[in-house]
Amino acid sequence: MEKTLVLIKPDAFSKNHTGDILKRYEDEGFKICAAKVMQMDKKTAALHYAEHREKSFYNDLVEFMTSAPLMAVVLGGENVIERVREINGATNPEKAAEGTIRKLYAENGSKNAVHASDSPESAKREISIFFSELEIF
Ligand code: CMP
Repeated sequence: MEKTLVLIKPDAFSKNHTGDILKRYEDEGFKICAAKVMQMDKKTAALHYAEHREKSFYNDLVEFMTSAPLMAVVLGGENVIERVREINGATNPEKAAEGTIRKLYAENGSKNAVHASDSPESAKREISIFFSELEIF
């Protein structure tokens, strides 16, 4: 079964949108294979966002993602990587399609409610940052 990593970011988690967001994924037929509430430390954020290290928004991104608890989730199902990115919508909520999670819950392009892996390679790498094999069902 294909798997992807989703982070329900500190903005959406603190505003109690977690249940609604998980329901969207479950309603699409995806399985919750692992889930944990955690506050990311700087080291984990640096690992997770390594590809963005040179970007202008990197420091703000790490600051925000480590500022408060979030929920890390592994979702499984057919074509889950691509489908979850469609359900999440564009990074910037102003450009996100109606009905997408970011259109509904994101504040802006940085406090944007959710993260999801963008390829099979990213999914494998990102899942291993947050979960051990024994925690994934
Ligand atoms: P995410 O899916 O977590 O992956 C990278 C994150 O960087 C992205 O969501 C946004 O939260 C953030 N990001 C991307 N582009 C910008 C930007 N132009 N300004 C601020 N944050 C951004």
